[in-house]
Amino acid sequence: NTTIMAQQKPFVANYDESKVGAFTLPDPLVMGSKKITTKAEWEKNRGYWLDLFASHMYGKLPKKKLKQVNTLISKKEILGGKAIQSIWKMDFEGKVQATVVVILPTAVKKAPVFLGLNFCGNQTISTDESIPMFDKYVVCNNAPDFVNYVSQPSSRGVWATRWQIEKVIDAGFGTITAACGDFEEDHANGYKNGVRTRLASALGLKPEEWTAMGAWAWGLSRIMDLAQNIQQIDPNKVIVHGHSRLGKAAMWAGANDQRFAAIISNESGEGGAALSRRIYGETIWRITNSFPHWFLPKYATYSDRENELPFDQHILLSLLSPRPVYVASAFGDQWSDPKGEFLSTREMEKVYALYGKKGLGNIEMPGLNQPVGQLIRYHIREGKHDINEYDWEQYIKFGKEELN
Ligand code: GCU
Repeated sequence: NTTIMAQQKPFVANYDESKVGAFTLPDPLVMGSKKITTKAEWEKNRGYWLDLFASHMYGKLPKKKLKQVNTLISKKEILGGKAIQSIWKMDFEGKVQATVVVILPTAVKKAPVFLGLNFCGNQTISTDESIPMFDKYVVCNNAPDFVNYVSQPSSRGVWATRWQIEKVIDAGFGTITAACGDFEEDHANGYKNGVRTRLASALGLKPEEWTAMGAWAWGLSRIMDLAQNIQQIDPNKVIVHGHSRLGKAAMWAGANDQRFAAIISNESGEGGAALSRRIYGETIWRITNSFPHWFLPKYATYSDRENELPFDQHILLSLLSPRPVYVASAFGDQWSDPKGEFLSTREMEKVYALYGKKGLGNIEMPGLNQPVGQLIRYHIREGKHDINEYDWEQYIKFGKEELN
């Protein structure tokens, strides 16, 4: 993962703290010549930052609202009656369809929910045979469960550990998910078959005006539209979450769509929670070469001149204010730059202070498996790049404490 050849230039990731280099972070409260001092000013002007992220990195998000037809495909009890699982089909103008799995605790009238995209199809979250097998390109390619980036029958439940459905249900939360590939398949030509092309005229946006990250964030908001119309969901307690590339998308969705009550970034790394100015692990150069469809071409022009970016990722996190935010890293995932994720999370409190809310304070990076903070939380756990049971235990505790 750390060395590739592209454009004749070898990439070797830096993991030496002494070679990270010096940098100064832009102040989220300074917008051009304007200095923000109150919450009202921040709210009136936060679009300044959103526009910069849109024009330099993630691309625009469509403003137009489409006709979205949500159809219930099936509904059944699961987990011995502890939960109801519904499968929904969302249709956009007859041109794009997405399948959404909604699992809600039977015992709760209006449940808080975790909403996030999955990498390799809804069938990977559980072995339940009634979940339709995803048939588009997936991010997984490990045989025998995936062959040529297509899901095989044995892929049912292979990512169950990443969803911890029973634990979530037992805690009184629901879970909602769809495959990211229903909005845009994750490869350089994925846009041709996804929302950016098929809905281009309906949404009034050309494919090149936005990105795969934008398409996934847009998808998260459309799932949110569906969630808002399901009686058994508390519309004010929808937590958007994502792992890795889908964590980047969850942050962009949360910054733009303030209906998300809380945001969880699990090891989102470069282009997510990690500071781009820190040259450690993945860099702008590497990410834009490996995944040119994730961001605008303009973002790639900031490789090797990260200090000239008008923002850094702590400002994207600040745009989530004043909502609860959890940023998590893993020690075995240095590629994501855990320290860069911690530092940007620590920087958030400047904006939260306008609301009289606390951040992490002036603390140093915590040790392994020692979550810190309250409304804004951070942990680095032992183990590899993944979202696991430990992470979910923290997210459930966070959801219970911060969404009441
Ligand atoms: C790659 C990529 C990361 C991304 C990760 C993932 O490692 O370089 O930016 O977060 O994949 O999505 O798992």
